Amino acid sequence: MHSEWIFNQIKALNIKKKINLLDFASGNGRNCIPLSNKNIIVTAIDKDQEKLNKYKNLNNINTICFDLETKEEWPLLREYYDVIIVVNYLFRPKIKKIINLLKKDGFLFYETFSLGNEQYGSPKNPNFLLKYRELLDIFGEELIPLSFYDGKTKYKNISIKQRASFKKGVF
Ligand SMILES: C[S@@+](CC[C@H](N)C(=O)[O-])C[C@H]1O[C@@H](n2cnc3c(N)ncnc32)[C@H](O)[C@@H]1O
Repeated sequence: MHSEWIFNQIKALNIKKKINLLDFASGNGRNCIPLSNKNIIVTAIDKDQEKLNKYKNLNNINTICFDLETKEEWPLLREYYDVIIVVNYLFRPKIKKIINLLKKDGFLFYETFSLGNEQYGSPKNPNFLLKYRELLDIFGEELIPLSFYDGKTKYKNISIKQRASFKKGVF
């Protein structure tokens, strides 16, 4: 099942023309597969080729198998993506580079676990748990924050998550 929050954000954009959407650490494609259509052209990147195999041949989806956490530059285009989604993935050392990939006027929708989640389940490792306001601290200077939430969410079980949306504008 996809992330309802991500879907609502994208629905609210009311997309009527072709856009490029990047699903960053796309996993088994639960978000990008149902989002892709003739107007939403998806690039999905993940290090797990087995997961990508499931949707690499679908229309309107381009998959890239790549380790996002090495020193190597990401094989992604700068200022190309109208929308970037990141769900349940965090690698702090390179996270800010996502900003370079966004087109001017593009949107970043980010949802992942935050501190407090360890009471409810995985992940419990602080490397994978956002600190309070951390998405705002990371992206909020260069992107315009549109919404922010940090607290309980319910999917199958309760988790503690941060959800933040941003727009790349002109200051
Ligand atoms: C918890 S899953 C989330 C997948 C997807 N975003 C979702 O919400 O269903 C985390 C994903 O990050 C990917 N990942 C972890 N480390 C990575 C790395 N170094 N480079 C690329 N992908 C990585 C994993 O392969 C996995 O598919």
